[in-house]
Amino acid sequence: MTTILHIDASPRGDRSLSRRLSAAFVEDWKAKDPSAVVITRDIGRSPPPIITEEWIAAVFTPAETRTPAQQRELKLSDTLIDEVGRSNLIVIGAPMHNYGMPAALKSWFDKVIRIGKTFTFDLQRGDYPLEPIMSGKTLVILSARGEFGFGVGGVREHMNHLETHIVTCASYLGVEESHVVAIDYQEFGDERHEKSVREAYEAVPRLVDQLIGQVCPIAAE
Ligand SMILES: Cc1cc2nc3c(=O)[nH]c(=O)nc-3n(C[C@H](O)[C@H](O)[C@H](O)COP(=O)(O)O)c2cc1C
Repeated sequence: MTTILHIDASPRGDRSLSRRLSAAFVEDWKAKDPSAVVITRDIGRSPPPIITEEWIAAVFTPAETRTPAQQRELKLSDTLIDEVGRSNLIVIGAPMHNYGMPAALKSWFDKVIRIGKTFTFDLQRGDYPLEPIMSGKTLVILSARGEFGFGVGGVREHMNHLETHIVTCASYLGVEESHVVAIDYQEFGDERHEKSVREAYEAVPRLVDQLIGQVCPIAAE
């Protein structure tokens, strides 16, 4: 069975292009695989608080000696990690903000990439001591950007810290395969933007068809 963790990171509501695109992806998936379970986490509207010294101290305190206050400190993180653990497909609607991920999404990653819960740390492994605990997940990023040229070979490829950062972080959540569909030119609002929107909405069902048998072979039968 497919369990989709559907995350939206735009602070914008109905006007958000990345929200509409991620909704289109999940709706198409549900239409083709009705038994799929969808966990929704709207971090654009309810951003996880940024981490504090108290939070870090609680993480590094052994679970059996954590105070009630430390347990409360980690409650949201525990819930968010549980959502990741239950999913095999992570769908993230993510606007580009200042050439990277929105702060809410960074805050979400800071809360879910946690020692002993989503990764282990062992210096016996030499220069690469971190290893993810989970595996086999697929990530789909549905993105929107005001400018353009962020793809491979594009004029702003070197300025694209959105997908690269998300994919790097997601590997510590067990993501082994990732895909991106993006809408460009939002700030120009011209025919290039319209074309980009059109192409993104054409790409979404194609990507669903491509992934549906991979993520959940039963759904494709
Ligand atoms: C705070 C902020 C920062 C932005 N930074 C960038 C940027 O660095 N590059 C870019 O191409 N667009 C940038 N944009 C434009 C957004 O990526 C664009 O409006 C996109 O449609 C936002 O996604 P949404 O429609 O899902 O909210 C920025 C927008 C905001 C509000």
